[in-house]
Amino acid sequence: MKLLVTGAAGFIGSHFVLRHVQNFPKDSVTVLDKLTYAADKKFLDPVMSNITFIEGDIADTVLVKKIVKDQGIDTIVDFAAETHVDRSIEDPFPFLHTNVLGVGSLIEVCKENPSVRFLHISTDEVYGDLTDTDPPKNSSDALRPSSPYAASKASGDLLLLAAARTYGIKAAISRCTNNYGPHQASEKFIPTVIRTALANKPVPIYAEGKNKRDWLFVTDHTDAIETMLTVPEAFDECRIFNVSADSEQKNIDVAKKILEILGKPESLLSFVKDRPGHDWRYALDSSNTRALGWKPKISFEEGLKKTVEWYQNRLAS
Ligand SMILES: NC(=O)c1ccc[n+]([C@@H]2O[C@H](COP(=O)([O-])OP(=O)(O)OC[C@H]3O[C@@H](n4cnc5c(N)ncnc54)[C@H](O)[C@@H]3O)[C@@H](O)[C@H]2O)c1
Repeated sequence: MKLLVTGAAGFIGSHFVLRHVQNFPKDSVTVLDKLTYAADKKFLDPVMSNITFIEGDIADTVLVKKIVKDQGIDTIVDFAAETHVDRSIEDPFPFLHTNVLGVGSLIEVCKENPSVRFLHISTDEVYGDLTDTDPPKNSSDALRPSSPYAASKASGDLLLLAAARTYGIKAAISRCTNNYGPHQASEKFIPTVIRTALANKPVPIYAEGKNKRDWLFVTDHTDAIETMLTVPEAFDECRIFNVSADSEQKNIDVAKKILEILGKPESLLSFVKDRPGHDWRYALDSSNTRALGWKPKISFEEGLKKTVEWYQNRLAS
């Protein structure tokens, strides 16, 4: 394959590229990343001599067309996004730029290059939240996003579904649950708990901490993406894959587990005013991805230990 991986200086994309270069050394990999606050180009250092790194914006259609032509790209894996819900509540416009116009730009590129496959990385947040008794969402369920972030991601998904039908571009969508692991931006929930606890500062928890998230270790997610890339017919019908490890946890329980690993007291927990529009629970039915033979390998306990260790080393260095 000749891959263009967008947003690969960020959390999930960097893991995808590191593993892809190791597992498929004959593939060519080009990375396009705008290097926002969420990026750290150093994550890609171990493979920098094996890839082509380009700093730029996916919404720059002229640039992306040139990259696709110059590098002979046959597959785009699109991780580039604005991803932090709280930031989207403060200012949705960067989210509209990248998550909507950026996807529109990649669609334009695929229209001009109809043999290029476009795997778009989306999120479970597009389905909106569930009550404690709702069944997990499956990939044909309606989209009911709650936050500006989720609405921008849902918009990108809808643009892509429309483009696949109207222009016949080869596309597929992956919707996954909350990822955790090394490389995540420090303002996200698990890194925040680790960072504040290590500094013996109050660990902020929204409301009573009873909101539930469904946690997926980042390399289990990148394995699922690799599996999707092996299914050519998925790109003929813009198939939507749900990816979940079925590991639902209350936020408060996740925070307590981290404090236990770090040997810190629960008295550090500090309950703060809830996020406006805060989704209560996410849960996905991932049977369509599991039917391809994918299954998660890392338990939440194992993944959380690896994650805590990585942040401890990073903060100590
Ligand atoms: N992290 C999660 O828990 C999670 C869960 C579900 C879905 N997702 C989705 O997975 C994808 C990757 O998420 P992440 O957590 O790795 O994100 P991240 O915020 O860690 O990284 C995003 C990367 O995209 C780059 N970027 C932003 N705007 C860009 C633009 N206009 N052009 C080029 N590059 C740009 C940033 O510089 C950064 O390197 C996103 O689409 C996100 O919606 C993430």
